[in-house]
Amino acid sequence: MTIINDIEKLKLKINKLDYHYYVLSDPLVSDYEYDQLINKLEQLETQSQYFTKDSPTQRVSGIPTKEFPTINHKYPMLSLSNTYSTEELLDFDRKVKGLLESNEKYEYFCELKIDGLAVSLIYENGYFKNGATRGDGISGDDISPNLKTIRSIPLKISSEDKLKNFEVRGEVYLPTYEFEKMNIEREKNEGSLFANPRNAAAGSLKMQDAKEVAKRGLRFFCYQLYSEETNFNNKNHSENINNLKQMGVPINPNYRICINIDEVLTYCAEWDKKREKLPYDIDGVVIKINNLEQQNRLGSTAKSPRWAIAYKFKAIQTETIIENITWQVGRTGTVTPVANLQSVLLAGSTVSRATLHNPDEIKRKDIREGDRVIIEKGGDIIPKIVSVIISDEIKRSEPYKIPTNCPVCNSDLQRFEDEAALKCVNYNCSAQVLRRIEHFASRGAMDIEGLGTAIIELLVNEKLIMDAGDIYSLKAEQISILERMGEKSAGNLINAIEESKNKPLDKLIFGIGIPFVGATAAFSLSRYFKRLEKLIATNKEELETIDGIGSKMAESIFAFFKNDKNLKVIENLKNAGLLFELEEAERGNRFEGKTFVLTGTLQNYTREEAAQIIKNEGGSVSSSVSKLTDYVLAGEKVGSKLNKAKNLNINILNENEFNEILNS
Ligand code: IVH
Repeated sequence: MTIINDIEKLKLKINKLDYHYYVLSDPLVSDYEYDQLINKLEQLETQSQYFTKDSPTQRVSGIPTKEFPTINHKYPMLSLSNTYSTEELLDFDRKVKGLLESNEKYEYFCELKIDGLAVSLIYENGYFKNGATRGDGISGDDISPNLKTIRSIPLKISSEDKLKNFEVRGEVYLPTYEFEKMNIEREKNEGSLFANPRNAAAGSLKMQDAKEVAKRGLRFFCYQLYSEETNFNNKNHSENINNLKQMGVPINPNYRICINIDEVLTYCAEWDKKREKLPYDIDGVVIKINNLEQQNRLGSTAKSPRWAIAYKFKAIQTETIIENITWQVGRTGTVTPVANLQSVLLAGSTVSRATLHNPDEIKRKDIREGDRVIIEKGGDIIPKIVSVIISDEIKRSEPYKIPTNCPVCNSDLQRFEDEAALKCVNYNCSAQVLRRIEHFASRGAMDIEGLGTAIIELLVNEKLIMDAGDIYSLKAEQISILERMGEKSAGNLINAIEESKNKPLDKLIFGIGIPFVGATAAFSLSRYFKRLEKLIATNKEELETIDGIGSKMAESIFAFFKNDKNLKVIENLKNAGLLFELEEAERGNRFEGKTFVLTGTLQNYTREEAAQIIKNEGGSVSSSVSKLTDYVLAGEKVGSKLNKAKNLNINILNENEFNEILNS
């Protein structure tokens, strides 16, 4: 049995290395040595066929998950109220004081607010059992296979530790360098870029193939412990955090116990300055009452605990110089200014462009080429210009002249009433042609694999295609002779084009690129009209009766189908044999005769959109819960309707369950 002893010894050794690496941030060996040990373990396990579920080799499961099952959270996963200023923090402190006994002592536990995704992990008998996303706070997705790939999450808690059955909550995040590495890779493969490490982490955690997740370099910090074991008698959150660390669960080491709110303010100010040096993003500080019994007494509102609050930092800003301003032509002809910047490091990543939105923005901020400017990151990958630095020492160039002609086709640019944007109205402008086809073939629309920007550009330049309809008459011989293409890739592309003919109607409606019509509106239109011809023949009045379609969108849809050029493309698509009507299975009756009540905020739909979908499926929506309600669709931050529904024993659907029914 020596081989089994060897395996167990190796497992212990690797666990110890993981602990030093992830929890103590004190690596004991090089990556190479670590990989050698894993290889050795793999080899011994294969030789002896002795596999254990807590082995480091078992982190990546081979079988991709089709759909994530739902897990109900044992305790609701609340979020925190946010504060943005000293005054608001002082206010919070006053409230806490008011709720506790007079003269009662209390202290705060301050920790970094990691900018990632909340997850809950369940341990049973010392082993990792499963883990889930926050979801709507009541239930989330069981993403255990993906979580197991995160090497900083222990699969087994050492047998000397006192707790065996417990739940931890924490943040899965992506270190900045992993994020950059990933985007460089995606850029090479012409994939869409992630806006920030948080989005990248979210995208990674939702992938169905754990093998891919394992490559992403996700990490985990734990910030909360729950256990009902009788020996769990810690008095303070700080003791929980120390216990977690001993148990091998990674916690962020940069916490501090503060005995009054002034110390809290100092901690916040310190980390606001120091955060840029961290190898991961934080978006603020979380301040918690340290004593667990006091936490209990303070309790929670429906949304958030009264014993904790988040202090959010302002966006990080930096200075740079605008080298020049260029203009990009979009699919609908909108011409958008972009500032090309002297490359500069901002919040951990290199920035070389900023969006200027429209000509008014340039005028309002009096932005000129060569200006020294302050930039900051918003929610998007492209930062924005906050202001121009004016000083006597800097001589500025002339006020920027807004172009009068399209930078691509040179036709006159126009500006329509009530619109801030400049427009190129030449339908045949090659930039617009390219963008329209790019949109048609994109993931959210007809999803034609292999038909990316580079190849579309070649095809347009060769005048082989001028609109989406032309894609369907392409021949393999025409494609295979293009740069970097061969017979095989041409064949694959032709197959992908052929397959796209059967894409559902909503994808087609989205793909034809009606201005202002996004994927959700396209879905509503497809369910309402059921045939493209009916949508084409409609009028503004009818369009406006559809929930989620406002007058601006109705106007745009109507104008789109009055345009002969658009009708011509649509005719070509029809002749090519694309699906112009809903398939039988899509003709909705999933909620036939059912009454819904909506509560809380949904992640993927506005309330109007969700209501429209329910109606399209034969259901109706009412505003208050009663005995006649069949379903309550509950999003995040739910209100009293949920309690009422529970009391009346009404079916409660979270957004995932709702989607599951729609996709069934
Ligand atoms: S405590 C009830 N601590 O921020 C206590 N949250 O809205 C809830 N977060 O959903 C969370 N770092 O995703 C806590 N050190 C930290 C955190 C943290 C990040 C996230 C978490 C939560 C959100 C607060």
